[in-house]
Amino acid sequence: MACNEYGPGRLSEPPAILAAIEALLLPKRPLSGRHVLVTSGPTHEPIDPVRYIANRSSGRQGHSIAAALAALGARVTLVSGPVSVPDPAGVAVIHVESAQQMLDACQSALPADVAIFAAAVADWRVASASAGKIKKVAGVAPPSLELVLNPDILATIAEAGARRPRLVIGFAAETDDLMTNAQAKRRRKNADWIVANDVSPASGIMGGDENAVHLITADGVEDWPRMPKQEVARRLAERVAAALG
Ligand code: CTP
Repeated sequence: MACNEYGPGRLSEPPAILAAIEALLLPKRPLSGRHVLVTSGPTHEPIDPVRYIANRSSGRQGHSIAAALAALGARVTLVSGPVSVPDPAGVAVIHVESAQQMLDACQSALPADVAIFAAAVADWRVASASAGKIKKVAGVAPPSLELVLNPDILATIAEAGARRPRLVIGFAAETDDLMTNAQAKRRRKNADWIVANDVSPASGIMGGDENAVHLITADGVEDWPRMPKQEVARRLAERVAAALG
C-alpha cells in the first residue's frame, strides 16, 4: 500500500507478477482466445473419513503444462487433485479430491478447444465408503474392500459429441510394453495424441523433476529426449499451438 491508501495488502508471488508482465508486454500470443482444460495430480478415493486409495502423482507435469499453455496466451482451467505443488500463476484452478468430482469439474469447464489429461486418476473407488472411521478390533479379521470402477474422464470427454474439444490429449503411464499399451490406449480412449512415459521405479520419473516421453499421434511416434518436466510442458504447449494453427 502506498500514497495514502489503506487496507490489507499482500505482494503477489513473483511467478504471478512475471505472468502478468508477460501478458502485458508480449505481442499477440499463439493461444490467445483459446480455452484449454488440463487435469493434474492424483485422485483420492475415500475408504472412511481418514483413509483413502490414491495413485502416486506429484502433479508437477500437469501443473507445468497448465503454466506453459497460459504463457502462450491460453485461458486455462486446471482441474487438480490433491497435490503439494502451488497453483500455477494465471490459471483458473478447480481443486477436487475424487475421480467423480474431477469428471464433474471437467464437464462443467466445457466447452474447450483442447483438453489434456495428465492426472493419475484412481481406477477404482470403494463401493461404499464408511461414514465413520473403521476401527480395528482385536481378534477380528481386517476389513475387505469392495471396489467399483471409476468413470474414465479422458474417454468420457473424448466422446462428448458436439462438445468434444478439437484436440484431446491423454497420457499413458506404463511399466511394461510402453508403446503397445500406449498405442492401444490412444485408440480405446478416442484421444488424438498420447504422451507415453515409462514410470517403472528404475526410471525415477514418478515424483522426479524430469520426464522422458514419446508423443504418439495419428501420424506416428516422436521420441523426445529426457528433459525437465517444464521443458516437456513447453514443447507440448508449442505443439498444441502449432496444431491449432
Ligand atoms: N484417465 C482418466 N480417467 C481415468 C483413468 C485414466 O482420465 N479413470 C486418463 C489419464 O489422465 C491419462 C490416461 O487416461 O491421460 C491414461 O491413464 P493411465 O493411468 O495410463 O491408464 P488407465 O486408463 O488407468 O489404464 P491401465 O490401468 O490399463 O493402464
